[in-house]
Amino acid sequence: MNAVAVLAIDPNIGRLRGFVTDLADLVENAADEAEILEKGGALLARLVSSDDWLPDAFARPNPDRYQQYLLHCDSRERFSVVSFVWGPGQGTPIHDHRVWGLVGVLRGAERVEHFRRGADGRLEQVGPVGDLFECEVEAISPAAGDIHRVANGLADAPSISIHVYGGNIGAVERATYDLDGTAKRFISGYANKVVPNLWDRSSAA
Ligand SMILES: [Fe+2]
Repeated sequence: MNAVAVLAIDPNIGRLRGFVTDLADLVENAADEAEILEKGGALLARLVSSDDWLPDAFARPNPDRYQQYLLHCDSRERFSVVSFVWGPGQGTPIHDHRVWGLVGVLRGAERVEHFRRGADGRLEQVGPVGDLFECEVEAISPAAGDIHRVANGLADAPSISIHVYGGNIGAVERATYDLDGTAKRFISGYANKVVPNLWDRSSAA
């Protein structure tokens, strides 16, 4: 990672600071998961409506695989915010989450396929393959079924989506799946060793 890019103060990083502060208030006060997903979805839609705040170091594709950069983790690990950077042709295996989630597209498009386990134990696709485009937000709820596969919706350019989860997602023990239903233990971790500095207010207008 480019240390200079990490150390530079981004004047618009306050958008992310405001988002995580609002989300902390919401998680603290919400009556249930449905309220978090509804109001948190509106907060995320506002965040991804501006594409001027994500530092370049956390928007870089990797030619070998998609990148999952941690942008912020709540100090009590009640939620985390991640930038997913998809190169052309890149995507995840089929996986679950075990915690609530919100997905908002900042740049390009994200392709989502939903799955559920059938009576025979195999995974079957639910609904059509759908593309999320810039500024669109989708919710993930384990209660409603949270098994999916995600990929870059663009064939010839990188895409970036901002994901929010109800835990420190890189540390959550969850699973990837084969289509025959075989589950494999999965802890994703993160691509970065340092996170953006949200808290230097000296450049704020
Ligand atoms: Fe996912």
